[in-house]
Amino acid sequence: MGTLWQGRFASEAAGALRALNDSLPVDRRLYADDIAGSRAHVRMLIDVGLLEEADGESVLDALDVVEAEMADDSFAFAADDEDIHTAVERRVTELAGEAGARLHTGRSRNDQVATDLRLWVMRELGEIVGLVTNLQETLADRADEAGEAYLPGYTHLQRAQPVLLAHHLLAHGWALSRDVERLCDARDRADVSPLGAGALAGSSLPLDPDATAAAMGFGARFENSLDAVSDRDFVAEALFALALLGVHLSRLGEELVLWSSDEFGFVELDDAFATGSSMLPQKKNPDVAELARGKAGRLIGHVSGFLATLKGLPLSYNKDLQEDKEPLFDACDTVRATLVAVDGMVASLTFRTDRMAAATAAPYVVAIDLAEYLVAGGMPFREAHQVVGALVRSALAGDGSLADLVTAHGRLGPEAAALLEPGVAVTRRTTPGGTGAEAVAVQRSRFGDQLAAQRDRLDR
Ligand code: ARG
Repeated sequence: MGTLWQGRFASEAAGALRALNDSLPVDRRLYADDIAGSRAHVRMLIDVGLLEEADGESVLDALDVVEAEMADDSFAFAADDEDIHTAVERRVTELAGEAGARLHTGRSRNDQVATDLRLWVMRELGEIVGLVTNLQETLADRADEAGEAYLPGYTHLQRAQPVLLAHHLLAHGWALSRDVERLCDARDRADVSPLGAGALAGSSLPLDPDATAAAMGFGARFENSLDAVSDRDFVAEALFALALLGVHLSRLGEELVLWSSDEFGFVELDDAFATGSSMLPQKKNPDVAELARGKAGRLIGHVSGFLATLKGLPLSYNKDLQEDKEPLFDACDTVRATLVAVDGMVASLTFRTDRMAAATAAPYVVAIDLAEYLVAGGMPFREAHQVVGALVRSALAGDGSLADLVTAHGRLGPEAAALLEPGVAVTRRTTPGGTGAEAVAVQRSRFGDQLAAQRDRLDR
């Protein structure tokens, strides 16, 4: 069949052009969406009288064959197949003869590829949201199991105040719920059909873009044909939402790298989610957590790289836009693999709650409770802060244990010293959204509502 534009050209394309230009190895992943778009297009052509019913039926039958061949990998790609659109149309024409040659009526690969990619990304983001939700459920389950276990909460990676382990785990869960909202928003904005925009300006033929949009299940059709073929905001938005999700997984990964070290010893990774060293027999390495951290780098690279691709493009379609698929596919593949592995790691690790409690036993992490005890007794907070700060300083200088100094202090005494007992401070955080047991129970139930709402939005 040769190229799609052979009428205009006297000689064959150079091998070097083909090597740079052909996108089939990448965009063959779009075959199902390409076929779905073609089905909608053919039915519309029949309805508006541009295609005889019988011709239309034979093209639809040919599309069924192509889909089956693609699905079982028996589709024979030809040397001339430049991209998935070319390959599908070539095979349809082989199967349906002259009727196949009518398939591309009123259509350009410009509106076609934008349609395919929107269908692809909408489905893919939905599936990724499902995987994020699975990880959030794992975090929630682990939070439920954690009960009253507590660990130091950190700021500046310095022990700051005790927090419930459940509270800490749910913090990661809430960050992921914002990712879900962003992914769903990106999916909603992708939900516009570009089919019918043609190469850039619409058509002289009586096409019905509303009908094709509805047939493919899109919420709307494009408003402007130039915008329709050149808009890749939906790719950039998906890449950003995936990159920020990747950053959240990276931060969780970094914590688990720290927590699984001998220095922290807060978790023991399951053997199935750790690796050994080829040289050092004692090693047990947190590769999944490290890769969750490492993969964020390439996800960030995809966003900035693709924005750079877009920034200089005049309207409307430019071949640069073919560079949309590799970062998008890679970002989705990367995020999927990372989510599944992180979920497995979090589900199977063992929390060393004894080590967490021991790390919290340092009395200084409850210094704020002493200051708040003084405030409850009427002292201005600034003054209380100074009183307790001075006690910490003299304890550190070796004047006695903090507990003894507190007990001996006129404004504090034994009642205040009792606050230094392990596990007491964490129970005293009663404010909404804080780390006290009751507040965390409320939070946990709201988090459950959030997960249900996510599942709901996904089903719609
Ligand atoms: N493979 C192309 C892409 O991904 C399809 C559109 C080609 N359009 C064109 N005018 N050459 O963008």
